Formats: sequence, C-alpha cells, structure tokens
Amino acid sequence: MQIHHDIPGLRAALQGDAPVAFVPTMGNLHDGHLALVTQARQAVGPQGRIVASIFVNRLQFAPHEDFDRYPRTLQRDSELLASVGCDVIFAPDEATMYPEPQGYKVHPPAELADILEGHFRPGFFIGVSTVVTKLFNIVQPDVAVFGKKDYQQLMVLRRLVDQMALPIRILAGETRRSDTGLALSSRNGYLSDDEKQRALLLSQSLRGQLARWQGGERDIDRIERDAMQTLRDAGWQPDYMTLRRQHDLGAPREGEPLVALGAAKLGQTRLIDNIEG
Ligand code: PAF
Repeated sequence: MQIHHDIPGLRAALQGDAPVAFVPTMGNLHDGHLALVTQARQAVGPQGRIVASIFVNRLQFAPHEDFDRYPRTLQRDSELLASVGCDVIFAPDEATMYPEPQGYKVHPPAELADILEGHFRPGFFIGVSTVVTKLFNIVQPDVAVFGKKDYQQLMVLRRLVDQMALPIRILAGETRRSDTGLALSSRNGYLSDDEKQRALLLSQSLRGQLARWQGGERDIDRIERDAMQTLRDAGWQPDYMTLRRQHDLGAPREGEPLVALGAAKLGQTRLIDNIEG
C-alpha cells in the first residue's frame, strides 16, 4: 500500500487503465469505513485500485465545532486500511488541499442542504460538497463509496454527481453497528462507557418513530415531538428527530419508503443516526 501526501504523487500512482474506487474519509477509522473499502474492492474487482483519502476538512466545521480535537490517527488508519486491501492512501495536509483560501465553493440546493443537518450546521454541506468535488478532481475515480450513516450527505453528493454529470458511480454502504446497536462513528470515541450505553436511546427512538408510523399513526408532529421529549427526558439535547421520505427527505407520503433521522447531543458529543423503514 502506498501513501501519498501530494497531488502529483497520487496522480502518478493512479496512472493506467485499472478502474479506481474511492473511499473519502476524515480518518480515525472504524469498521464502518473498512466495510466501505471492502465494498469498493467488490465494485472494481482484484485488478482495480482502491484509494482512501484521509483529510479533516476544516471547511465543513463551524468555528465552535470539533475540528481541532478531531482525532488524527494516520498510523493506525494506515494499518487498518492495509489490512482490508486498500492500495493507496491520499493524506494531504491543509496546504495541499487549500493552498490559498478556497474562494470557489460548491453550493448545493437549499431544499436539500439547508434542512436537518444543514439547518443545524449551516455551511456544512457547502464544505462537504466543495472538498468532495476537489477530491473527485484529484483522484478521478470511477466509483466512490459513502456510508448511509450520513444519509443526507450521501443524498447531497449523489445529486451533485448527477447534476454535474460527473462520470462517477456512487455506492452506498450500510451503517455498521456495535453488538448493542450503536451506529459506528468516529465521534463515538468521545463517549464515556456510560454514555455509550445511553447512546443506544437514539437508534431506539428512531425505531420507535418508524414503528408508530407503521402501526398506522399519522400525526407526524406528535410522533416527532414525542421522540424529542424521550431524548430530553434522558438528558440529551436533540436537534431533530424526524420521519422523511427516503427518496428526497420530504415529508412522509402514503406508500413511500421512509427513513427516521435524528441528531442529538449527549454530553459534549453530537451524534447522528438514521433507520430506514
Ligand atoms: O463523511 C465524511 O467523513 C466527510 O464528510 C467526507 C465525505 C470525507 C468529506 O470530508
């Protein structure tokens, strides 16, 4: 496995006809990321090249968020990526990705990017869309794999690729969970053991919302309010707990597949999760 920190080195390493599958990450990897690498390998076969990027993208963090304390664990990440057959790591520093302030940015449409995560993290999807576009230009992959754990991010990036006619096939990786049901996330490392147990309430409440809809209840406001209250009663600070259409994150409609999405702070740690119904 090769590690490249600069763009010319990476481009030279990827020359040739072999299909390239790309897994963008911010590092501090867990089994969920490694499953995306395995999925990337399945997509391009043994002859393909698998590239994973590791870059903590300042553009997608608000000033009060955890950019500075986000764990940088390149050595461990490299060992993990090698163990699942990754061919190339692209680990640029900030001066490589942003040699000057990034004046050109990708602005996804408000109806998709200013709701839910985008509402509570203004500018987040501009930062994500900008860095992913730039990474796509650098890596020029045939396939890119993103986790469903970041459900809205996956949707924003799929639309980006469609609307900009980028020749990249986007694959979605299923959310990986611990034995107890906690969605794997790099930010779980911020949780104490006690908080890890309490964190299960997020996915349980999302399942509860779906169960009420599937049981015939149609008062969405009430379902969502109750889910928020359940979290508050347990000491969380929820941002949103909601039921949406899987297709476009619009309000539920009869007969269309739904997804329950939620984001909430437990102690100092903001967690997100979603369950498709
Ligand atoms: O999901 C992430 O880890 C990041 O948002 C991504 C896609 C690597 C862009 O920085």
